[in-house]
Amino acid sequence: MTKGTTVDSPKKAPKTFFVQNYGCQMNVYDGERMADQFAAQGMTSSSKDDADLIVLNTCHIREKAAEKVYSEIGRVGKKRKQANGAQPMIAVAGCVAQAEGAEISRRSPSVDIVVGPQAYHKLPEMIAGVAAGKRGLDLDLPGLDKFDVLPKKRKSGPTAFLTVQEGCDKFCTYCVVPYTRGAEISRSWSALIDEAKALVDGGAKEITLLGQNVNAWTGEDDSGNAVGLEDLIRALDRISGLARIRYVTSHPNDMTDGLIAAHGDVEKLMPYLHLPVQAGSDRILKAMNRSHSADSYRRIIDAVRKIRPDIAISGDFIVGFPGESDGDFEDTMRLVEYINYASAYSFKYSPRPGTPAATMADQVAPQIMDERLQRLQQLLGQQQYEFNRSVIGQSCDILLERKGKYEGQLIGKSPWLQSTHVDMPGLKIGDMVRVQINEAGYSSVTGDVLMQAAA
Ligand code: SAH
Ligand code: SF4
Ligand code: F3S
Repeated sequence: MTKGTTVDSPKKAPKTFFVQNYGCQMNVYDGERMADQFAAQGMTSSSKDDADLIVLNTCHIREKAAEKVYSEIGRVGKKRKQANGAQPMIAVAGCVAQAEGAEISRRSPSVDIVVGPQAYHKLPEMIAGVAAGKRGLDLDLPGLDKFDVLPKKRKSGPTAFLTVQEGCDKFCTYCVVPYTRGAEISRSWSALIDEAKALVDGGAKEITLLGQNVNAWTGEDDSGNAVGLEDLIRALDRISGLARIRYVTSHPNDMTDGLIAAHGDVEKLMPYLHLPVQAGSDRILKAMNRSHSADSYRRIIDAVRKIRPDIAISGDFIVGFPGESDGDFEDTMRLVEYINYASAYSFKYSPRPGTPAATMADQVAPQIMDERLQRLQQLLGQQQYEFNRSVIGQSCDILLERKGKYEGQLIGKSPWLQSTHVDMPGLKIGDMVRVQINEAGYSSVTGDVLMQAAA
């Protein structure tokens, strides 16, 4: 049920919209689906400066996220006033909406709608409510309803996201996701195959399967057999017109033998695995409730590399979790040295309201966190650079995704997810080109086009 309170000055029904995404790829996917939904209703997309409806699709993973949203709301209102424009209808969606709820409307009277990440299919109804003078709040976590009511046809760029799984049951002690996204639920086999085909028909050549724990996806295939993510990947491998499959983010505990095996023989599955470990000390992993050890993580990576030696390994790290000693941090550094990452994301621990770690004793001093993060990032950056250098001289396919800085330059992704710059007249976004990598930097590589690949 959409709840509402009456406001004095109703805003007009919007004809144009702008969706601003923060946070993870799942929010990007949700933002695209919201846009699909608005377009199906006859609204057109516009810029933040003149849209009638602005959706802030927020993230709550680390601190200051909520503060950023409040200042953005203030900025939008002020800019419109300066331009003598009408105030836009403002909807706060996503994980801050779920976590802060009605507090947002109380603090920011210009917010008309607060909608949680599992309820955005109710937006049209809520928008109509606002135009009739009723502010809207909907923070239900109704599972998968949102996917059922969204438009089925998909227009896509060369790369597309497809959310296969929502929510998280892992309850790592530092993390808000289980509270903001709800319990782990998998979308159905048939819905996913249909949507993947619709994306390919709409122009996608690469699909990245998404989930907070994407490899926890389970389902039943058309014959009623119990299936896992590897089976879904194998089914997508058979869709003609689709050239590449990726998936993100995985949890070490759901890294099954079947999924590892898929990296060895599914041709379209790209040689890239994002497998967050967070820390290298078993004591800290236990306090984080990660339920894997540094050693079990190492064994998974060893097994994947045995099957796919060139695979690019990526990870996430948190430094300065409560109680992390110098020795614990050295364990993280040792693990990083062992794994040798191709890329990684690393963060200072950020206490999140309502999570168990926020009230743990022995919070680490900010200065120590800074020093540790700097050392870790230096090592990870060096490894990334070495990985980028290791592909110099190799030939590989690049799927061109966007324009570069210079006239004629295009940027795409290598199989190992490296940003790759190419420069040759006549190429366009969406082309798959055969390239020889000839130069490497810290965050990208450059290639010479050999020929247009068949895809
Ligand atoms: N489900 C994924 C990732 C979820 S959030 C997983 O389990 O790996 C993305 C990343 O944000 C996490 O991997 C973690 O490194 C980081 N993160 C989550 N909560 C955090 C917090 N409270 N402080 C700092 N980093 C955090
Ligand atoms: Fe958060 Fe842990 Fe779930 Fe990842 S597995 S989303 S870090 S609770
Ligand atoms: Fe952020 Fe929510 Fe994603 S907290 S990382 S937007 S699941």
